[in-house]
Amino acid sequence: MNPIRNFCIIAHIDHGKSTLADRMLEITGTVQKRDMKAQLLDGMDLERERGITIKLQPVRMNWKNHILNLIDTPGHVDFSFEVSRSLAAVEGAILVVDATQGIEAQTLANLYSALEHNLEIIAVLNKIDLPAADVERVSTEIENAIGISREDMIHVSAKTGENVDLILDAIVAKFPPPKGIAKLIDDEKELDATDTNDTKALVFDSVFDPYRGVVAYVRVFNGRIGKRNKARFLATKTDIEVLECGYFRPQLDPQPSIESGEIGYVVTGLKSTREARVGDTLYIGKNLENASPLPGFRIVRPMLFAGIFPTEADDFAQLRDALEKLSLSDASLVFEPEHSPALGNGYRVGLLGMLHLEIIQERLEREFDLDLIVTAPSVPYDILLTSGEKIRISSAADLPDPAHIKEISEPWSRVEIITPKESVGAAMDLCTKRRGLFKNMQHLDESRVLLTFEMPLASVITDMHDRLKSSSSGYASMSSDFIEFRTGQLVKLDILVAGDRIDSLSQMVHQSEARHIGAPICTKLKDVIPRANFAIALQAAIGGRIVARETIPAYRKDVTAGLYGGDVSRKNKLLKKQKAGKKRMKAMGKIELPQEAFMAILKRDE
Ligand code: GTP
Repeated sequence: MNPIRNFCIIAHIDHGKSTLADRMLEITGTVQKRDMKAQLLDGMDLERERGITIKLQPVRMNWKNHILNLIDTPGHVDFSFEVSRSLAAVEGAILVVDATQGIEAQTLANLYSALEHNLEIIAVLNKIDLPAADVERVSTEIENAIGISREDMIHVSAKTGENVDLILDAIVAKFPPPKGIAKLIDDEKELDATDTNDTKALVFDSVFDPYRGVVAYVRVFNGRIGKRNKARFLATKTDIEVLECGYFRPQLDPQPSIESGEIGYVVTGLKSTREARVGDTLYIGKNLENASPLPGFRIVRPMLFAGIFPTEADDFAQLRDALEKLSLSDASLVFEPEHSPALGNGYRVGLLGMLHLEIIQERLEREFDLDLIVTAPSVPYDILLTSGEKIRISSAADLPDPAHIKEISEPWSRVEIITPKESVGAAMDLCTKRRGLFKNMQHLDESRVLLTFEMPLASVITDMHDRLKSSSSGYASMSSDFIEFRTGQLVKLDILVAGDRIDSLSQMVHQSEARHIGAPICTKLKDVIPRANFAIALQAAIGGRIVARETIPAYRKDVTAGLYGGDVSRKNKLLKKQKAGKKRMKAMGKIELPQEAFMAILKRDE
């Protein structure tokens, strides 16, 4: 009888995942109560401060002659590939739902993903110590949403520890012991010789330790990993020697080896997590060249780009060093230099999503003491050229000459929204206004509704979440998941100041939204550009077609002030002269655009 059970916890932010993990550590005696720092497993300071867990430290616990390995699934959309690799590494998932709140959109998304990975699910209703807990309603909701019967749900208080032991017992009884590689492989596909004879482990996370290099977190599917073994990461073809391996307790606990079915860590000595990526296979065996990797690996491409500029031009080199350092431990962060006439030298940074951007910005400001301007983010666009070549651009400024473009496509995502019945109209309205396509509506119980839309990612990243929250008094939740690139009537919207195109203000938009997006930019510019002694036209244009316009009127010096009475023709003459002078000035003179003008437009609204 294999005593190992591998599992993860799926929960919405604040529903009590960290608290429950802490209680489990305590009850299993993994960590003594007096050593318990509140929320021991929340690693980063940043996370602790903001009260969000990006990821819990994995941990191995003993419970009634069994070994329980807990790993985490990040609870945020930006990290859906990482979630999928964590789910691939375990056989069961605990679904934690706050009994005072009910199921949220993101939980549901992760839960569907767990079901796709054929995981066993144990549903837990948390916070039953609170008077506001509504076990009946939330049980119905879970039954309707995922078909788990209410008799199988466990009611707990992670705070007091009540019934947490029942969860541990259920893990032993309900979750199967570790499966072999077959767990990951489609029924049709045969296992090959390297699958059955050699050591293969799935990397479900990797972190960079400044002293020891990259530490890969792995689930061993076949064979064993021993200290001093020669091993290879198959996707990146990186060879290493296992410097140390062991278990999480939760601190790293070295072992001579880790066996098939176990979850543990491998110290690699590598200098960057790019060489030991999440989803890669760690292989030990003789068939280095022929070994087939475990399925499911992919390199996640950024879905969001933003410019990051230092406020002080002198800090540019420091920003570069900081980004390089961060990217050692964050393989999905990409960046390249960018110059903006207004903001100077900086970087165009590619990220997984908005939370990722916030994390990076905060870490740069906090850990590296940088003062930054972050521009409004945009999504990538795929361009099919008339030559048949395909390119991907991360900035409207890189759009090729329209004459060479056959079609443009943009990322689309599936959006799921859970909202109180009263706010369904507002949520629908918000989605349709943003080019959303309605797909489905399901009643979870008498009071809450699940809406499914398909929407351009560009519409999702621009304050969609905030709008949804405010239209539902804070009760709605949403999740979004990239589906595919789709072609559309996409155009480059240029901003012209006195006839000059300002490159850094160009952006890609859908034709139908060009006016709607262009007009407020012109209005905003009107407020921030100082008047000159001639009128300044502010225009939003697609190619040669103006879609919105504002004018900053000239301030006019009263050239006729010195005249007392006399002939009116004399006055007209002076005015005419003034007009001619202005015309000349306008033709010659460039307008000095104040930096604040750009910042007002470029900056991400906080
Ligand atoms: P993230 O860290 O944001 O992912 O949240 P989490 O799901 O880990 O939630 P966390 O454990 O941080 O709990 C959120 C809040 O709920 C904290 O203030 C906890 O003290 C509280 N909490 C968690 N479980 C219970 C419970 O059973 N009863 C009560 N009354 N409060 C709880």
